[in-house]
Amino acid sequence: MSYSPASDRYEKMVYRHCGKSGLKLPAISLGLWHNFGHDRPHELKQSICRTAFDHGITHFDLANNYGPPAGSAEEAFGEILKTDFAGYRDELIISSKAGYRMWPGPYGEMGSRKYLIASCDQSLKRMGVDYVDIFYSHRFDPNTPLEETMGALDHIVRSGRALYVGISSYNSDRTREAVAILKDLGTPCVIHQPSYNMLNRWVERDGLKDTLTELGVGSIAFTPLAQGMLTTKYLKGVPEGSRATQGKSLKRDFLSDAAIDKIRGLNAIAESRGQTLAQMALAWVLRDGGITTALIGASKPEQVVDCAGAVENLEFTAAELAEIDTLATDEEINLWAKSSEEA
Ligand SMILES: NC(=O)c1ccc[n+]([C@@H]2O[C@H](COP(=O)([O-])OP(=O)(O)OC[C@H]3O[C@@H](n4cnc5c(N)ncnc54)[C@H](OP(=O)(O)O)[C@@H]3O)[C@@H](O)[C@H]2O)c1
Repeated sequence: MSYSPASDRYEKMVYRHCGKSGLKLPAISLGLWHNFGHDRPHELKQSICRTAFDHGITHFDLANNYGPPAGSAEEAFGEILKTDFAGYRDELIISSKAGYRMWPGPYGEMGSRKYLIASCDQSLKRMGVDYVDIFYSHRFDPNTPLEETMGALDHIVRSGRALYVGISSYNSDRTREAVAILKDLGTPCVIHQPSYNMLNRWVERDGLKDTLTELGVGSIAFTPLAQGMLTTKYLKGVPEGSRATQGKSLKRDFLSDAAIDKIRGLNAIAESRGQTLAQMALAWVLRDGGITTALIGASKPEQVVDCAGAVENLEFTAAELAEIDTLATDEEINLWAKSSEEA
């Protein structure tokens, strides 16, 4: 069935400047890490993306390795771009990344110029686009000079493959260095993509969040729902088909009794605010303007609608924040800690 986006799509979403750049991003962005591989029907992927755009979600986040198999999420999104979003390319912000293992041999991962530029070309081909809006170094590589990795990002922009560049899961110190190198090269670092949610607050402890504000770099928080833990879905056991049943990135032991107790307490606060827990978790990530956008995933269109509704209440009282702080303490769920711990 042919698709026309909702005519009121820009009325409810909130758009914020990404750091000090001119780029505005929706407060809620959609990522295609899970649920966009060959293991899911194309119609479902299509309806998730359509629903997002209908709700003003203009930013779609991808990476070379999203699937399974790796690359298939970019292929699926390329198809959706052709069938559904043709004619809307200038209303979309599409990102991709390279850093994790993508092909065999010494040139298929990490931060070399060889890998980043080749991977970017592959991503453009899979999606059938001439350029991406944002291209990221997906993780810090301790064995490649940062000048080389940032030089590759600069080249990717200068050669027309991307409009903006960013980094993901770099800690505060490495971020300062990367931002300074990119500034010297004349290609600003516009965005940082760290993990961040009520059960994973490393960006506060590390100082990254304050550093980004100080440097005027925008940020997009991934796994803002802790892969679904910060919803009500696990409060009465593990539902069939949920991410925790898939043996992938959401480990069963993340759902400890202690974590579930915290989530139950957080849900009570969300209810008192008249929000779903997912909506409160997203509003909390966005609470003080330090984070530009919350990057969700979704296995169903209804989840996108629920999450987009977070923007209806982004304000917290001091008492609410203090109560949340008593429950929002770190669980051992940060799968990306290694990249930010590299010196
Ligand atoms: N830079 C990096 O290294 C990196 C790493 C990881 C992720 N990311 C990016 O971040 C994006 C988001 O990651 P994520 O998918 O883990 O984010 P998330 O938003 O924390 O979790 C998404 C999952 O939460 C559940 N969910 C979402 N909305 C819901 C709702 N309203 N009610 C109930 N359940 C809901 C769904 O789980 P079910 O599937 O169980 O329904 C969904 O698959 C990725 O797609 C990717 O773009 C980047």
